[in-house]
Amino acid sequence: MEPHISKFANVTKVTTHVLQEMKLKNEKIAMLTAYDFSMARLLDMAGIDVILVGDSASNVMAGHTSTLPITLNEMIYHATSVVRGVKRALVIVDMPFGTYQGNSKEALSSSIRIMKESGADAVKMEGGREVLESVDRILSAGIPVMGHLGLTPQSIHKFGTYVVRATEENEANKLVEDAHLLEKAGCFGIVLEKIPAKLAAQVSKEIRIPIIGIGAGPGADGQVLVLHDMLGITQEFSPRFLRRYHNLSEEIQGSVMSYIKDVKTMDFPNEREQY
Ligand code: KIV
Repeated sequence: MEPHISKFANVTKVTTHVLQEMKLKNEKIAMLTAYDFSMARLLDMAGIDVILVGDSASNVMAGHTSTLPITLNEMIYHATSVVRGVKRALVIVDMPFGTYQGNSKEALSSSIRIMKESGADAVKMEGGREVLESVDRILSAGIPVMGHLGLTPQSIHKFGTYVVRATEENEANKLVEDAHLLEKAGCFGIVLEKIPAKLAAQVSKEIRIPIIGIGAGPGADGQVLVLHDMLGITQEFSPRFLRRYHNLSEEIQGSVMSYIKDVKTMDFPNEREQY
């Protein structure tokens, strides 16, 4: 395994304040998703800064075609499993669709359930001005909030497609305005998904809190990818921004095929593999 290349490798627990320090010291923030104990433990041991229990669990864990169906109880289950595997990384949990939009009281009780039952460090929610009342209310309870702008998958039925967002001036202006509103409200960071690199770089310069990009170019203060995509477990999803570090799908299938052959031919178990 490669040695740490981080000035923050000795930090025993990453907090939202550490992320702010990373931005100030120009160190890029590395964030990945995880949904279960074993993977979260591996990511944490490898030195990842932030683990996002993303509602992408709805796709990669549950096999849904969007992030909309996953429930609060399911997100809490994933988050609780992740937290058990993590010592150092900051753990952020996505608030699922329908638990914060339009009702700040419900948003507060959803976020309190996430924090209380899972032991996570923070929550993330999609949207700008439209969710500001919920953001304010959650922050007033002392719960750290990360925003999410640009392509917001919970609004896929409004967008109609997963194409790059904010390419037009009015949408870009709204995104910049929303980023400022979220910062002013007290969010500790913002995810910018699938927007032009130039726009993400501009927002990262203008805004003091860390900006984490996914498909938003190198100008963001950090990067996030969905773990199953970057490990090559998922195959069908192949956007330009995705770098695959492994082809685990082939490796897993190869191992399973070898196992099937060994069982069928009675090669497994051998004399040393029995009592
Ligand atoms: O749910 C998720 O995995 C996310 C990332 C893509 C940022 O929100």
